[in-house]
Amino acid sequence: MLLRDRKVIVTGGPTVESIDPVRFISNRSTGKMGKALADEAAVRARETVFIHGPVHESLIDGVEYRTIAIESTEELLEAVKGELAPDAVLVMAAAPADYRPAKKSPVKIKKKKEELVLRLVKNPDILRTVASIRSVNPAYGGVFLAGFAAETNNLEEYALAKLREKDLDMICVNDVGRSDAGFGVNTNIVTVFMRGGERMELPLMSKRDTASRILDCVEEGLTKKTTQLLT
Ligand code: PMT
Repeated sequence: MLLRDRKVIVTGGPTVESIDPVRFISNRSTGKMGKALADEAAVRARETVFIHGPVHESLIDGVEYRTIAIESTEELLEAVKGELAPDAVLVMAAAPADYRPAKKSPVKIKKKKEELVLRLVKNPDILRTVASIRSVNPAYGGVFLAGFAAETNNLEEYALAKLREKDLDMICVNDVGRSDAGFGVNTNIVTVFMRGGERMELPLMSKRDTASRILDCVEEGLTKKTTQLLT
């Protein structure tokens, strides 16, 4: 089964978690990888929606698919659940903040003390949540889940652990410690691991070319998944 029969939900960019009205916790994601995937999905899929955190407005100016702007990881989860459909392919290139401040101050925190302790609580895991919706609801059994792993060391080990623990169909690992891959740059180096054990090492390429090769892997994975569901 190819993407032309599918709705593709791509997430990209960071999430931000407010500490007070002027300060937040976030990360270095710019949304470039997610945008490249959404651009490529729009060429192939029946429908594409790009759910993104705060990114530069030029990134999404004039795109011809639907976009949804979110801020926090909890908002990202709600937006993904709102778009989820039985024929969905979810590609999670976003970098959601794993933790958020336990309390958001309604007013600007004054810098009176020498030390300020910030207590963080864990955010929900979006991929795990969608995987559990899929596992308990047969109507969503055909949903395809593609994750990313942003790692600086033990790339293969950590990626395979995430593939298994998040119950994904595939995972794309990028070495975010490199200056020509991962956050912010226009190029990436990705290795794709499929649920069935296949692996595909992609060379240094533009994020758009990387996106195209990743969606080739999604289409192969979809074909296998559909055959398995039918047998
Ligand atoms: O945006 P760019 O500047 O172009 O950079 C691209 C990128 C480096 C952000 C991208 O290629 C990438 O690696 N995205 C995933 C970043 C990330 O959150 O990785 P992780 O290893 O911490 O998380 C593993 C997977 O779980 C990811 O698919 C992530 O989207 C997902 N996740 C994470 C946290 C959370 N609460 N819920 C999730 O579903």
